Amino acid sequence: MSSAPANTPHHVAIIMDGNGRWAQQRGLPRIEGHRRGVETVRAIIDAARELGIHTLTLYAFSAENWKRPPDEVGALMGLLEYFLKKETATLIKNQIRLRTIGRTHELPPGVRAELERTVAATAHFTGSTLVLALNYGARTEVIDAARAYAAAVAAGKEKLNDDSWATFSRYLYTSDLSDPDLVIRTSGETRVSNFLLMQAAYAEFVFTPVLWPDFTRADLAAAVTAYAQRERRFGQTSAQINPASTPR
Ligand code: IPE
Ligand code: IPE
Ligand code: MG
Repeated sequence: MSSAPANTPHHVAIIMDGNGRWAQQRGLPRIEGHRRGVETVRAIIDAARELGIHTLTLYAFSAENWKRPPDEVGALMGLLEYFLKKETATLIKNQIRLRTIGRTHELPPGVRAELERTVAATAHFTGSTLVLALNYGARTEVIDAARAYAAAVAAGKEKLNDDSWATFSRYLYTSDLSDPDLVIRTSGETRVSNFLLMQAAYAEFVFTPVLWPDFTRADLAAAVTAYAQRERRFGQTSAQINPASTPR
């Protein structure tokens, strides 16, 4: 991890999109695309570790994805359970902590059981973190955070006049995670689809036309390289960020 080159993003978040189109282009059912997508997930978890990325967040199921046909939702849940069953040993071997964000209590019991098992088995690892966004939506996250914050105010644990983001953000699902530095979306869509709206306030974005089942470690490496060439200014001027460079 410490051998990662300077400018490597600490936290990369990926909107894994394009499974359905990948399958349709081949005359296959959409679920085949999701199956291939799981293979990509495996490869990219490995690649992220090798590239020195500490935290990898994968948008696996949005709060809006329940609106898909029931057989597709069922198949996605089945794949998730299968992935967790098969992948836990590898996560332990590679010392990767699994975390989730989203309303996971609304997932089917079988998926929840596997999640709890894997999260508990990997909770002590500190080297790298895999975050699965499951039944995640940024708007429901804000509602959940506001509710928890209001309860804390009512209990006298927080002050209503405290307007610091550091305080409020402790009530988001991501309270123990750093903000994403780089957000990647595959499949050519250039929208955020209710993903990490607060946390990505200053993230760099990379959009690639590659469909998720075709996304490779080389594509991830290319996104990381593009990120390394960006100048993040956080509202400041370029000269402030680089005092040594020629003033513009
Ligand atoms: C991403 O692929 C996977 C999920 C959203 C669960 P899609 O299923 O959205 O694929 P497209 O966008 O229809 O091609
Ligand atoms: C976003 O993809 C959600 C996930 C990748 C899990 P969608 O395919 O659901 O997004 P929209 O509907 O095209 O915006
Ligand atoms: Mg899609």
